[in-house]
Amino acid sequence: MTTKEIREKYIEFFVSRGHKEITPSPLVLENDPTTLFTSSGMQQMVPYFKGEKHPMGEKLVDSQLSVRMQDLDEVADNRHLSSFEMLGNWGLGSYFKKDQLNWIWEFFIEEIGFDSERLHVSLFEGNKDVPKDTESYKIWRKIGLPENHIHFYDVNKNWWARNGAVPSNMPTGEIGGPDSEIFYEFDFIEHRPEFGSFCHPNCDCGKFLEIGNSVFMEYVKNEDGSLSELPQKNVDFGGGLERIAAAKNDNPDVFKIDMFSGIIKRIEEEIGINYNSDPKKDRDFRIITDHLRTSCNLLAEGVIPGNKLHGYALRRLIRRAMFHCHLLGSGISGSGISHIAEDLRNHYPNVDKNWDFVEENLNTEAVRFESALKRGLANLTKAVSDGVEIDGKFAFDLYQNDGFPLELTLEILSQNGMNFTQDEKNAFEAEFEKHRENSRVTSAGIFKGGLENKSDETITKLHTTTHLLHAALRQILGEHISQKGSHITAERLRFDFGHPGKLTDEEIKNVEDLMNLQIEKKLPVTFKTESLDAAIAKGALHFFADKYGNEVKVYSIGNFSKEVCGGPHVENTKEIEHVRIIKQEKIGSGVIRIYAGIEK
Ligand code: SER
Repeated sequence: MTTKEIREKYIEFFVSRGHKEITPSPLVLENDPTTLFTSSGMQQMVPYFKGEKHPMGEKLVDSQLSVRMQDLDEVADNRHLSSFEMLGNWGLGSYFKKDQLNWIWEFFIEEIGFDSERLHVSLFEGNKDVPKDTESYKIWRKIGLPENHIHFYDVNKNWWARNGAVPSNMPTGEIGGPDSEIFYEFDFIEHRPEFGSFCHPNCDCGKFLEIGNSVFMEYVKNEDGSLSELPQKNVDFGGGLERIAAAKNDNPDVFKIDMFSGIIKRIEEEIGINYNSDPKKDRDFRIITDHLRTSCNLLAEGVIPGNKLHGYALRRLIRRAMFHCHLLGSGISGSGISHIAEDLRNHYPNVDKNWDFVEENLNTEAVRFESALKRGLANLTKAVSDGVEIDGKFAFDLYQNDGFPLELTLEILSQNGMNFTQDEKNAFEAEFEKHRENSRVTSAGIFKGGLENKSDETITKLHTTTHLLHAALRQILGEHISQKGSHITAERLRFDFGHPGKLTDEEIKNVEDLMNLQIEKKLPVTFKTESLDAAIAKGALHFFADKYGNEVKVYSIGNFSKEVCGGPHVENTKEIEHVRIIKQEKIGSGVIRIYAGIEK
């Protein structure tokens, strides 16, 4: 069964049970500074779990590419990926444990055809705040699971909230709940005692693979540390498409599924070595395959390699992919890497549609890194052979001078039998932070989730300011201006748009004045929900048109701006007070980036 067939079956299965298929989120969420990239299908659901009405209804389904780059080292094994497709279904107060567990079981057994004896489930064992999930236990038993296929775990395994939080460290206002995971057992794999005295679904020996998780999203964290029940009981299911396909193959290596076979074949051709011919080289194949898939999808959504935030994350992926090509003995030309990556056009319509942009930026980064890699390798090899101490400061200088991401330094050191201590890694991070212009929002805090109220307010203002900027740029520079990307933190907005060159000082001033004039005019900000076609017909600006659902919110700022957007926004432009353009950059051929902030 191909990944495409599994995806289609899943969507059809839930649509035939009353779900509406929704459009997945872009990978860079415009107004969610708590996370760098969309990492779960549920991210766009948060307000709806809390009771807001979703325009598409109370039963929803989609397949969401989700980027999880917290631990790139894990990607080297046979089941962890830096991005994966999450099959998601949601019940927003409309159904709960009984329907969800029965449906997901039916899907896996009837539609995918798994042997029920290979499936195990886990449940929450309860703690002082939340009872043991005996309700789900009874449901699983009634479905037919034997007692020894139902396993209870504590909050560390069977509680789900964003950023891996457990009830004690969830921020105030954060939502979460107990969950029930489903595991596939590779019965031919022998447990290895180095992973523990006995095997169980959450053992890391590789015998069990988690393929899906039904979260019962029913709690919210209070200021006093307690949990309250949400106004409605929600279901949040996430299944790993690639892992389901691997389980269906009855092969624990996710890199053996059809989605990756084309790209692996191209690496084999380019390099002249076959995957699985030398276990030491499998890791390189997996890293190249995984990182190029994530990179191409990010590029296709307009992210460009750079030194900050999203751009830096992308740069690390591309450079690591190239470095592992180098380890396999291949030259690392831009055209070689693009040829390997081009197979992704067969699987991702968005990569196919934006291939020229993807290829150009992949090539540019490859050429930059080619010379950096030669220089950095020479410096590092010399230092190693001269017996120079390679510490955090040295690693930072390599990064600063040669564009060498820390991971590559660590990789080379470990090949030479040397390892960094945690203190040395911290020293690198400390140097890195000192030099990073917007270090406050790139620091680890970005993954922590939960916003202070004050930040919420600024983010809302900046969201409306982004619409003002878009409309002002079009009035001053012309109607060819269209958004290529946008990102908002509690400090500033960032807006990318197509334009041949940087703006003159006068143009910058005119754009800024025009925005401030709309603020002084105290324009009302209102929205209407309508069909995307109707919104476009009325001239509403839109971004990634193919990613919207049928029903969209259209925000108007007086008669100055009309744009399709999910919000949130201020009610009147006077709340913004005053905006200032902080700087502009040319970030790629024909793409300009503007940073702007609120001034009191
Ligand atoms: N929210 C859960 C997860 O991300 C299930 O969708 O794993």
